[in-house]
Amino acid sequence: MTTNEVRQKFLKFFEARGHVIVPSAPLVPENDSTVLFTTAGMQQFKPYYIGEKNALKDFGSKNTASVQKCVRTSDIDEVGDATHLTLFEMLGNFSFGGYGRKEAIEYAHDFITKELGLLISYVTVYKGSENVPQDKESQAIWKSLGVADVREEGADVFWGPTGNSGPCGPTTEIYCKPARAGVDAGGRDVEIWNIVFNEYLCNGSREQLDNGEAKLTKLPFLGIDTGMGLERLCAVLQKKESVYETDAFAPGIKNRAQRIIADHTRAATEMMQEGVGPSNLGRGYVLRRLIRRAILHADRIGVKISERFKDEEAKFRKTLAAGLKEFEKRTDPFILFTSYGFPIELTKELAKEKGIAVDTKEFEQAFEKHKEISRAGAEKKFKGGLADTSEMSIKYHTATHLLHQALRDVLGKEVQQKGSNITPERLRFDFAFSRKMTDNEKKKVEKTVNEKIKENLTVHKVTLPLAEAKKSGALHFFDEKYPDDVLIHYIGESLETAYSKEFCGGPHVANTGTLGMFRIAKEEAVSSGVRRIKAVLV
Ligand code: SER
Repeated sequence: MTTNEVRQKFLKFFEARGHVIVPSAPLVPENDSTVLFTTAGMQQFKPYYIGEKNALKDFGSKNTASVQKCVRTSDIDEVGDATHLTLFEMLGNFSFGGYGRKEAIEYAHDFITKELGLLISYVTVYKGSENVPQDKESQAIWKSLGVADVREEGADVFWGPTGNSGPCGPTTEIYCKPARAGVDAGGRDVEIWNIVFNEYLCNGSREQLDNGEAKLTKLPFLGIDTGMGLERLCAVLQKKESVYETDAFAPGIKNRAQRIIADHTRAATEMMQEGVGPSNLGRGYVLRRLIRRAILHADRIGVKISERFKDEEAKFRKTLAAGLKEFEKRTDPFILFTSYGFPIELTKELAKEKGIAVDTKEFEQAFEKHKEISRAGAEKKFKGGLADTSEMSIKYHTATHLLHQALRDVLGKEVQQKGSNITPERLRFDFAFSRKMTDNEKKKVEKTVNEKIKENLTVHKVTLPLAEAKKSGALHFFDEKYPDDVLIHYIGESLETAYSKEFCGGPHVANTGTLGMFRIAKEEAVSSGVRRIKAVLV
């Protein structure tokens, strides 16, 4: 069965059982500022588990299924073994009060044994803790299905929350026999599927929960969240010794270094496709780390990696040899980072290979300071979503503000900015809205923006204390932390009468009259409840 056939089979199976198929959300999450990347299929559905949003209303069903692109860097050390990847696809079925343990377990059991013809070796269930009871119900269901080996486990089979808070609960994991001894290094059973019973809301991160610093409260209904690693499943189904030998990868990957290069370049390519660029902060840093780690391994085994990585490679190659020399002399991770562009994790890995210790504490302190400084700079520059500060990009930035307000005029206050990306060729604007726009609505929005351009309105800026700035009605992101004083850009005569006002660091044109003709080139869905407009000035 090819990887693509498995995807289709999975979606068809759940569609036939009353699930609505939802497309993969982007890797860069739109509605969750607490994580850098989407790490699980359930992430785009977080608001539905906690009752913040209504699935029946938004999807027409309480049950959904998806194939979600995910990035996980927490297992990066294991990447290159038989089953771990940085970027992978997760097959998942989800229910927000639609069904419970019995259906969820039966669906998984039927899909694995009847549709895929695999044997379940054993399953795990939660053994309970001080605050959460033992999952006896799941245990009984598995037994009734003829699975004899049901193992009770602790913290490992309590899942979530992702990010700084969210739904979580006990899980049951399903392990299958590898098709050939060799999968998962020692021929051990492979964890194929994980069914989470989201029964609780945690008001902190997993770490805080484990340290007793966060609390669980019971959710109003039971949520089902399942996840099955596609590449891993395909390795088992295709009787391969590792995920790298499945049809998801090009043939000919022979050793660990090649596996790491394949995995990291694959993940990096996806990230770059979503507009992430290498940098020393946040997502950009994760990307840089992956690319540089791939280059290090490529350097060792003497391969040149593809065109797309050329820039970053050229940059790193300039300092790589000198950096390695510096590393041999003395291991100061901060100098290696600032002067030679070695991400700290890379230095640590090199040190580990040599069996030497690295003083990370001093590094962390110096790095925090460095981050503060670059954050302040980056915020100024990139807040508007501008990729550069060319004349055209600045025009597109002002046009984006007009578009945002025009969308609210035509479609209502439900419209809220989720993201924006501007190049000298076009603007891209993502916003919360529940359905496709009609042609008529698109025309109205274009007309409104063009009217405002013709009125040749002046663009002003003013700095106000945060509370006052909020009171002015200027648009801003609700879940973002702003400084005590914020800069507002408004388009029109005064702040009170302005057509558009937004928290924004600029840059903008002086008058809207210079923008030209505004035209919407495309309107499409990005994920559930988020639309994307691409527009041009002609
Ligand atoms: N959220 C769970 C996981 O990531 C199941 O989908 O494993």
